[in-house]
Amino acid sequence: MTFSPSSGYPTHRPRRLRSHPKLRDLVREERLTVDDLIYPLFVYHGKNLRREIASMPGQFQLSLDRLGEAVGEVAELGIPSVLLFGIPEHKDATGSGASHDSGIVQEAVRLIKKQFPDLLVITDVCFCEYTDHGHCGPLVERGGRLDVDNDATLPLLAQQSVSHARAGADVIAPSGMMDGMVQAIRSGLDAAGFTHVPILAYAAKFASAYYGPFRDAAESAPSFGDRRTYQMDPANGDEALREVALDLAEGADLVMVKPALAYMDVVRRVKDTFGVPVAAYNVSGEYAMIKAAAAKGWIDERRIVLETLTGFKRAGTDMIITYHALDVARWLRNA
Ligand code: PBG
Ligand code: ZN
Repeated sequence: MTFSPSSGYPTHRPRRLRSHPKLRDLVREERLTVDDLIYPLFVYHGKNLRREIASMPGQFQLSLDRLGEAVGEVAELGIPSVLLFGIPEHKDATGSGASHDSGIVQEAVRLIKKQFPDLLVITDVCFCEYTDHGHCGPLVERGGRLDVDNDATLPLLAQQSVSHARAGADVIAPSGMMDGMVQAIRSGLDAAGFTHVPILAYAAKFASAYYGPFRDAAESAPSFGDRRTYQMDPANGDEALREVALDLAEGADLVMVKPALAYMDVVRRVKDTFGVPVAAYNVSGEYAMIKAAAAKGWIDERRIVLETLTGFKRAGTDMIITYHALDVARWLRNA
């Protein structure tokens, strides 16, 4: 959009268009709807478990036998999609449990697809919940330091993705920020006959302190060091565009920016530069901040959440992964 004095402005009195509620409705540019929402779920090993996550009030670790009731609520509210994370009983150095056909996520996908065939099931593909060291792939020692072995992780990511697709996952979402991960997964899926399964790449994922509460929920905190050798430096916006360009070139169908709040400029630049579907992940720390302030009565939770998510849309997001999804769906229904 360009403005110049000669082309004129719509009005010198912008308040005219704010003067009547129906007029405000007519000129509103963005609309948050239930169709924008993706709800993350934590599937936990064991039985009869529905444990609230202390730093994420209202969010739960759920065992398979308690998953159906939660997903039923999602479906009933008209939320189109869920994103699944699994917390397995056994962890090892390579995260081998992540690719078992009877693994926690694979079982969860089967259960959801059977009970709620219309729901879109997205699976997070990574190893941090499955490795005993909590990093996003197997480790290698380089120059006296342990680091995730990028190229050893790639075939494992392909295996994990194929096992998710075999279980019925509709979309595969790799979150580990390994170089070449999208290509490896695309080739693996294609070779196994899953050419129709799209990839939602965590393309611009920053090394963020906002993931703190999630790591409690998914029990995936690294046992040493941090993720800065694979996740991005929060200072780098140009680099985010290069990451997105690479993932698209490797075959990503959808791209994600994560976290959302502090990175809305990145969302906008990705949208303007590539014109592809963009997801924003409204992460655990963003959720926790709002819940904590709301619990103290310092903010109006409903208005803050709706304003925040509308802001994501204005920045150029097509879909929003958010722990607020159930509340938002209820609020929009009763609006
Ligand atoms: C794991 C993963 C993380 C999140 C999604 N997938 C955490 C991490 O990188 O440590 C964070 C989600 C959130 O904070 O809500 N690869
Ligand atoms: Zn990970």
